Amino acid sequence: MLDTVDEALRALVGALHLEQKVRLLTGADIWSTVAEPAIGLRSMMLSDGPSGVRGPVWDERDPSLNLPSATALAATWDLGMARRYGAASAAEAKRKGVDVVLGPTINLHRSPLGGRHFEAYSEDPLLTGELAAAYVRSVQEHGIAATPKHYVANDFETERYTADVELDDRALRELYLAPFEAAVRAGAWLVMSAYNSVRGVTMSENPLLTTPLRTEWGFDGLVVSDWVAVRSTEASANADQDLVMPGPVGPWGPQLVTAVRAGAVPEAAIDAKVLRLLRLAQRVGALDLSDTALRDNGFDTAAIASHGHVAMREPIAPEPETNGKAEADISDREGRELAREVAAAGMVLLRNSGELPWPSSGPGSIAVIGEAAIWPRTQGGGSATVVPAETISPVDGLRAALPDASITVHPGVPVQTGIHPLPLTSMTDPRTREPGLRARFLDADGNELLSELRRAAQLVYLGTVPAGAAMLELSTEYRPGADEAAAARLGVAGVGRIRMEIDGAAVIDTVLGGSGDALGAALLTPDVASVPVAADGAGPISITVRHQLENDGAALGLVAITVGTEAAHTAPADAIADAAALAGAADAAVVVVGTSSQTESEGFDRTTLALPGAQDDLVRAVAAANPRTVVVVNSGGPVLLPWRDEVSALLLTWFGGQEIGHALADVLLGRAEPGGRLPTTWPAAEADVPVLSTTPVDGVLRYTEGIHIGYRAWLRAGVTPAYPFGHGLGYTTWELADLAVSAPAADGSVEVSLTARNTGAWAGKQVVQVYLSRPDSVIERPVRWLAGFATVFAEAGASVPVRITVPRRSFEHWDGGWRIEPGEFTVSAGTSVVELPLSASAVVGAGG
Ligand code: BGC
Repeated sequence: MLDTVDEALRALVGALHLEQKVRLLTGADIWSTVAEPAIGLRSMMLSDGPSGVRGPVWDERDPSLNLPSATALAATWDLGMARRYGAASAAEAKRKGVDVVLGPTINLHRSPLGGRHFEAYSEDPLLTGELAAAYVRSVQEHGIAATPKHYVANDFETERYTADVELDDRALRELYLAPFEAAVRAGAWLVMSAYNSVRGVTMSENPLLTTPLRTEWGFDGLVVSDWVAVRSTEASANADQDLVMPGPVGPWGPQLVTAVRAGAVPEAAIDAKVLRLLRLAQRVGALDLSDTALRDNGFDTAAIASHGHVAMREPIAPEPETNGKAEADISDREGRELAREVAAAGMVLLRNSGELPWPSSGPGSIAVIGEAAIWPRTQGGGSATVVPAETISPVDGLRAALPDASITVHPGVPVQTGIHPLPLTSMTDPRTREPGLRARFLDADGNELLSELRRAAQLVYLGTVPAGAAMLELSTEYRPGADEAAAARLGVAGVGRIRMEIDGAAVIDTVLGGSGDALGAALLTPDVASVPVAADGAGPISITVRHQLENDGAALGLVAITVGTEAAHTAPADAIADAAALAGAADAAVVVVGTSSQTESEGFDRTTLALPGAQDDLVRAVAAANPRTVVVVNSGGPVLLPWRDEVSALLLTWFGGQEIGHALADVLLGRAEPGGRLPTTWPAAEADVPVLSTTPVDGVLRYTEGIHIGYRAWLRAGVTPAYPFGHGLGYTTWELADLAVSAPAADGSVEVSLTARNTGAWAGKQVVQVYLSRPDSVIERPVRWLAGFATVFAEAGASVPVRITVPRRSFEHWDGGWRIEPGEFTVSAGTSVVELPLSASAVVGAGG
């Protein structure tokens, strides 16, 4: 059947003329592909992802489920959960008319400074690959395509459009390509090529798109570019790059037609790309291959037959993989429940001196402290951002769970700098008097092209700017809420020429971030202008902002602007004293610390692992004031926790999704166990980190550490981190016993079995991890490497058998091909990379 479908697709390609074919290979706009009604091909919608699905608009009026970010999912180490996460993403995609989810992000956590780590899974290629495969399979089972990205070595953000990565073959194969191989072998329908270069060639022109992707792994799907990553006509078209995004303007188009006519690009290369596009369309249901549909579309089915291919007299059944597509449906309630469950299952309890779990009635009084306790980061910034209908903060979650407890709240020290969007409750649209803000696009003559009521003051238009727009005008009447400081500053964040009037008087007239900045600057690194405002509470303040749309981003349809307040800078010492006093008066204290969108986001790497602002001082003061201090860390990647031994419990929530507050309350009160284990090493000090720099030198980033990243590098350096890879505490205790290792099976895999006994008083989860090592190897090796894992659940006192298959690949190394050094490998099993109570050996021959 597959052959028949393929032949039909080839026939359709053959029936299109060159211009038609080339037209299909550049996006129709920022998110969708070009339709070709003559062959029954509709446009396909692509959307970010990967922790929820945004849909074609970035708009609070069309909200999305905001699932916990990738590091949270990875910390569950739970492939079943990854499948449910994928299914929920597919359901969201269907609801939003999306065919292709632009995820998962499967680059590696090479350095903890990487700005996009929240969006990627782990420092380990096996854990990353298994999670990616589970997610991809699950999304695609529902007829929605997944897009593992960014192929390859896009493990940092500094000079992200141009940096060239230099690395050796083993590192490339054993680390960076490995998760892509797993995702492709799981059947991924697309792969996204990265912005960066590898070995001097930008990824949208790189031979790695052919080998290993197509030749060795048999990838028959579509390679979509990262947004604006294709910079050439011939070199990229001659490579295995298939689709240029976004469109409609790009380096292919008419230039590519000319290049083909001139013989610089073979037409067969174009045909191969179009075939892959049609294959994707057929998979997601965007191409109707039935004979009737073709004829209804005026397509000459006889012409197909005359190409010497099958005449499509019989309706063609879908490929086996899309047969019986699982129903993709998820209610709002189910989506939120999943978000809450994943968040708790991914929370990592790093330290607990008997403090947690609290009794279900909680401590009588709790001081909840920190900006992130009130305004948590539920997701990372940048293209991954979705707009949830509602987010539950730690304060909300604790109040809902403990309605009778006395909960006092203090924002602690400033963390998030820049502009906080005006809350909906304090804005009135001057035109309709409804809550909100009036947004108007005007042409160069001041004519109104679009006028709409927005219910948010942080606006992103991506491909939705009306044609001919020269200015975006925002107006609202702002009445500060009771809890907003009278001395707050009002201002804007954006890129380009921006003017602001308050009560009719011009207060800001400036060019922010220059004009001509790289795509995405308005979203990722906006500049801020603000002025002090005297809010006497007497009446509303009328605000008008005019943003001239003349920068590069606007030309590509990207406008991002925020109108809001900027915190007045109070001395941290006073805030810390107040917070500590509050903590001292309560039975227990919860301090929520974290990164800010200015320090951890897509678009740039972090400059330090330290927590921003005076948060370390805040934690120390609170812990000194209350011995029952629980610290909650709300970051996407590792941060330094210099006071970690001075607090009674330490819990990571990552960017925990829209239900973060409910999930946190569940974990603190023992309604859920913190199920997470570290997917990445957490260092004690920056100076200890073996692989740190993400800054290219003369445009080149050299991965000189080769195969030694993450825990492999820590073990090799003999340095102890704050918390090792795989570590995390639950609410119960475990004993592992009876390790046995089978002889290699015919496929070279080895079965590892053991018994896990829950020796504590709580039902719980453990993540059993299996590592390999090769003490006297003739080749260079990591000290040990993850070779398999399983999540285990057991009632108090119960024993469960655990079986883990270690694939042949885990024994192999790359040496111009996959090879096995015959002999004895040590198999170790335990609960982190350094907590390995059991070991045995596996004897493997060259043949597996
Ligand atoms: C990001 C991709 C994303 C694309 C579309 C790029 O800047 O690197 O991950 O899918 O934009 O938003």
